[in-house]
Amino acid sequence: MSSLTNKRILLGVCGSISAYKSPDIVRRLQDFGAEVRVILTSGGANFITELSLQSISKNKVHSNIWDKEAELSMGHIELAKWADLILIAPASANTIAKIATGKASDLLTSVVLASKAKLILAPAMNQQMFNSSAVQENLKHLNTRQINIIQPDSGLQACGDIGVGRLPDSTDIANYVAKQFESTQLSGKNVLVTLGATVEAIDPVRFISNHSSGKMGMALVDSCVQMGARVTCVYGNIDVNLNVKAINIHAKSAIEMHASVMDVIDQQEIFIAVAAVSDYGVKNPSKQKIKKSGNNLILELTPNKDILSEVCKLDNKPLSIGFAAETQNTLENAKNKLKNKGCDAIILNDVSNTEIGFNKDENQVVFISQNLQENIAKNSKTNVAEKILKIFIKEFL
Ligand SMILES: Cc1cc2nc3c(=O)[nH]c(=O)nc-3n(C[C@H](O)[C@H](O)[C@H](O)COP(=O)(O)O)c2cc1C
Repeated sequence: MSSLTNKRILLGVCGSISAYKSPDIVRRLQDFGAEVRVILTSGGANFITELSLQSISKNKVHSNIWDKEAELSMGHIELAKWADLILIAPASANTIAKIATGKASDLLTSVVLASKAKLILAPAMNQQMFNSSAVQENLKHLNTRQINIIQPDSGLQACGDIGVGRLPDSTDIANYVAKQFESTQLSGKNVLVTLGATVEAIDPVRFISNHSSGKMGMALVDSCVQMGARVTCVYGNIDVNLNVKAINIHAKSAIEMHASVMDVIDQQEIFIAVAAVSDYGVKNPSKQKIKKSGNNLILELTPNKDILSEVCKLDNKPLSIGFAAETQNTLENAKNKLKNKGCDAIILNDVSNTEIGFNKDENQVVFISQNLQENIAKNSKTNVAEKILKIFIKEFL
């Protein structure tokens, strides 16, 4: 599924009978993970209330360019800069004409002019209006300015006419928007990502594991999928949803994860080792639950295979990224890891900082390769994943 996680969508709602569908469009965009703010034109306010759109979007609805309070901080410019994408749905013939001629006569058209964000229009109107040469010429002209037009549906209209001009289904509109953020930078590439924590059994009910939730790894899986890669995800213990577009393989212990990775590694062009793999496993785990006794219990641990090192020693080694979760001498340890494991890049994660890393939604990392050391500032794991991949693609692909 496409994603709008952390994307900021500005929805313009115009004076069309189909404006009653706009709260549903807000909902569907939110389903994809977007934050939505709404500009309601004065025409639109005749068809749908600010209160409905405010309640659904959970944000103040903007409608008046002469709002003295908002304009104290140049509200229309702020909105223009805030948006990652502007969607106008429904777009009236009137607003389409204004945008085509570069007018800035209300808040919506002023924000459109002041924004660098991609613009999508979903025209909705009576079929005669839609087919009029004025509207068609305006749309043709907007198309030459790289403004995306969502074709209206055909069918029975509110006025009783039958023809083209109906606002498409809200889910289709949200899908169209989400597709704008898909990239093809990893198109056709096979990428293997390991993530989550391995579980080393002590006995049938007890185990040794760690705090990894799989959030950072899954953010990378999602980003790779969005960039067009064929992703295989080998996951241990996780606290996130799987991406249904990836091939998902569960591996409980470090031994199972090693086997699962080695099974598929020769088909991969990129390997991203995010899983927190236990360095040690329990020698001879008990088949029965160990009974409590007053005596000390000694567990003998044996070293597990180092999956990243082994992959990097392969003759047909894929481009490989490792993660270094460090608590001290972080930079030095991460650079040593890059050298010792023979991988192409290491992502340093300072896990002594309790605000980031394990089980948190945000992360702050350093991308380290032979030729590069780049800080990626604290941000959502989704955005950090995108930045890691962008740097990686620029350096290696
Ligand atoms: C009942 C009614 C329904 C209308 N439906 C539409 C419509 O579906 N599409 C459209 O472009 N204009 C429609 N209009 C005309 C617009 O509301 C009008 O052009 C208005 O100025 C648009 O303002 P705006 O572009 O600022 O939203 C309708 C008008 C009325 C009275």
